[in-house]
Amino acid sequence: MAKKIGVLTSGGDAPGMNAAVRAVARAALSKNMEVLGIQRGYLGLLNRDYINMSARTVSGIIQRGGTCLYTARCPEFRNMDGVLKAKGVCEELGLEGIVVIGGDGSFRGAGDLSSVGIPCIGIPGTIDNDIQCTEYTIGYDTAMNTAMEAIDKLRDSAQSHDRCSIVEVMGRKAGFIAVNVAIAVGAEAVITLERPYDLDSIAAKMIKTRDSKEGKHHFIIVVAEGVGQTENISRTLQEMTGIESRVTVLGHIQRGGSPTLRDRVIATEMGYHAVELLDQGIGNRIVGLKDGKVYDIDIQEGLAMQKPFLDERYDIFYDTAY
Ligand code: ADP
Ligand code: F6P
Repeated sequence: MAKKIGVLTSGGDAPGMNAAVRAVARAALSKNMEVLGIQRGYLGLLNRDYINMSARTVSGIIQRGGTCLYTARCPEFRNMDGVLKAKGVCEELGLEGIVVIGGDGSFRGAGDLSSVGIPCIGIPGTIDNDIQCTEYTIGYDTAMNTAMEAIDKLRDSAQSHDRCSIVEVMGRKAGFIAVNVAIAVGAEAVITLERPYDLDSIAAKMIKTRDSKEGKHHFIIVVAEGVGQTENISRTLQEMTGIESRVTVLGHIQRGGSPTLRDRVIATEMGYHAVELLDQGIGNRIVGLKDGKVYDIDIQEGLAMQKPFLDERYDIFYDTAY
């Protein structure tokens, strides 16, 4: 009998999740598997909220942001009662494996479900790129490009008004988006949780540059949301420098939009790899990118890893800032 598998998206949405869903469905169908698209993550699994997927169900979604399977957060799944209830639903539906596209919280759930006998494969889908065992998470590239384009626009206005534009970017506790975007927009400073920052020296440099012969009068400062101090930073720098400041929180705009080529291609490779694992009866794995290649790792081992910060890139940013 052909295998029957499920695919779901969980946690925060990310551009490129649709490309991953499409790849999972198409790869599975080409192996004569049946595919159920479980809607609204683990919540939908518990509620038997699913659609039968055909090759046409995933037509025309590769270029779309968001997730056609919807996503949700499901507190019930955080305890074993919820996980065992989900196991019962999987058995009732005849599911022999599930591909979970989400972040580390979703992977903990996938590990729990694997431990009770339902093989699950995690695919990293989050704009934050904060999953330890992978160099890349789906949505990261698109989100950074969205932030870059938005800040290019903010610079026009900051320049016209001789202002300092303080821009908060997403990333949860991680500063990966912040550092790359700061380089790409030619920002004057970047502030993240991973490295200490000193507003006195940022302000001193702004004043020195403004008062120099060539006179620079507008500034862009990128702040990672995890720092949690964006308004304070703006107020303090304005007081220290006398340069008028404006805060822009880019927010959920970074989660939307058509995925970039990089996100579509990596999502497709990861989706394909996840199906290959389930086809071999392998579960409890996270698919990731290592040295630029798709690989897989045990879920618990993957979640226990430490992810290095972009230290070298951070230093290059400051050495080339202004
Ligand atoms: P992300 O997957 O993006 O990190 P969340 O942390 O919100 O997003 O997790 C998504 C869902 O995964 C949660 O709503 C919950 O159903 C499940 N989940 C999160 N943490 C755990 C956990 N420790 N154990 C089991 N399931 C979890
Ligand atoms: O994990 C993705 C992310 O967008 C983070 O960057 C941000 O901190 C969080 O999700 C916002 O979550 P919510 O969708 O609950 O507002």
